[in-house]
Amino acid sequence: MDKFRIRGGKSLHGTIAISGAKNSALPAMAAALLTAEPVTLRNMPMVRDIVTMGRLLAFMSATVSTKEIPATDYVIEAKSLNEAVAPYELVKTMRASILTLGPAIARSGVAHVSLPGGCAIGARPVDLHLAALENMGADITTEHGYIQARVSNGGRLRGAHIVFDKITVTGTENILMAATLADGETILENAAREPEITDLVHLLRKMGADISGDGTATLRIRGVQQLHGAEHSVIPDRIEAGTFLVAGAITCGDLTIDNCAPEHLGSVLEKLKQAGVMIESPSPTSLRVRGARKLIAADLTTEEYPGFPTDMQAQYMALATQADGVSTVTETIFENRFLHASEMMRMGAHITIDGRHAVVRGPAKLSGTIVQASDLRASAGLVLAGLVASGETIIDRVYHIDRGYERRIPLLVERGPARGSRALGGSGGDSILRWAFSRRRNQAKIAARDQSDGHLRVPILADVPSLRQRSRGMLRATALQARRADARIGIPSAAEVLGPGAGSRSRPRSDLFCI
Ligand code: UD1
Repeated sequence: MDKFRIRGGKSLHGTIAISGAKNSALPAMAAALLTAEPVTLRNMPMVRDIVTMGRLLAFMSATVSTKEIPATDYVIEAKSLNEAVAPYELVKTMRASILTLGPAIARSGVAHVSLPGGCAIGARPVDLHLAALENMGADITTEHGYIQARVSNGGRLRGAHIVFDKITVTGTENILMAATLADGETILENAAREPEITDLVHLLRKMGADISGDGTATLRIRGVQQLHGAEHSVIPDRIEAGTFLVAGAITCGDLTIDNCAPEHLGSVLEKLKQAGVMIESPSPTSLRVRGARKLIAADLTTEEYPGFPTDMQAQYMALATQADGVSTVTETIFENRFLHASEMMRMGAHITIDGRHAVVRGPAKLSGTIVQASDLRASAGLVLAGLVASGETIIDRVYHIDRGYERRIPLLVERGPARGSRALGGSGGDSILRWAFSRRRNQAKIAARDQSDGHLRVPILADVPSLRQRSRGMLRATALQARRADARIGIPSAAEVLGPGAGSRSRPRSDLFCI
């Protein structure tokens, strides 16, 4: 299994360009299901969740193509979308698969999407997505672990007045997409205001949708008969940018973060400045962070946008372990998002947890050990802690980090000792160089299956037999779709993927293609 080995203790200097936002790219891909015409998406992050979503869309009858892998540009064409099924095998690896529900039911009047289930950070129900779609005229049942949704009104949803009990990001995106093809007007109140939602509105408008109120808590969507193809470049990833801001700050380095959107980072910048971090904006699309010799403790509460993002909580906690004083970190979005705290404690951090509050006493002298990553952002928090720990930190289960961070940080270089007077060995840039190396290796594997027309198709999950636990009808539908999708995208033979001698495997393992 992949691990990161980090030798901490050096400050990071250099320039890093931020990739496209994963949480914008995923709904944008799902939005392509709303039209029969091609949707071209640019500035896509080269992370595994994007490949997973590509597989899912291919499974649902769309053609997903790109000229290279890893790719920043994708063309998605969903000419037809019948009896769309999002199988458990794909949904379980990525909760954002639920984003296919709204577009699928709006376009074809029927959808079967596996219930995503809970995850390490909490129960994460989708009840608000389902209640809103029922409000719009969908009949929804949950059977055999699947959401089965159908619209009788000639296959078209109808506009409705929806007030979310709780702010939900993917819930807002699902209903926004569903409403674009509904009969009449939908008013969505208590909607999420994340920049990724505004980005989705921009794409949907390019596709012909009639939406107003973006950036506010009330969205108005007037349904149209059909949408058309469009081209869109997704916004920069504010969480990736925030993670590097903390990397620069915690290692007392000097990093320039290019191709970012400082206007999406207001609460993060404010909190880091409060903690004594020096941040300036040399241009409208870049930030420069310099770590202070002494970081100051500052309390933090996660909130919906424009508040401090829960997706930056673990990274901030790593910083708080190095700050002078007591920082109380309060997590209000997810009920179980402190798993990284116990791993940081194993590294020597002084943290006590009381329900939704974590009290961090710093500065703590961290020392490297083997730690387990529990989710995507927890992994990032542990990498940051490893950068300031003495000795070697081994981070296990780094597949979590591949879901949302590109292994691409070649320009950062370590230079000089980090904060404090600890004598620390190794290089602060070690993990970073390993990330870049590991990605090159994967690229070589992927290049082996370049296709004659110069396009690479995103491979879908090939393990159809494991779908057998489904009800008979569902199995027939999924198997049929899998066969159709296999034929369309031409999954290469095992020998092609693995090289000579591998011919005994009847099907390639899907994870060989992960980037
Ligand atoms: C999205 C982000 C994720 C981020 C989260 C919160 C994507 C792909 N993922 O996740 O990175 O951490 O927003 O900013 O964009 N809830 C319900 N019922 C529902 C839906 C949500 O009770 O039907 C609850 C959740 O359990 C959670 C809270 O609402 O406690 C917020 O969840 P939500 O905003 O829906 O998170 P996601 O959209 O899954």
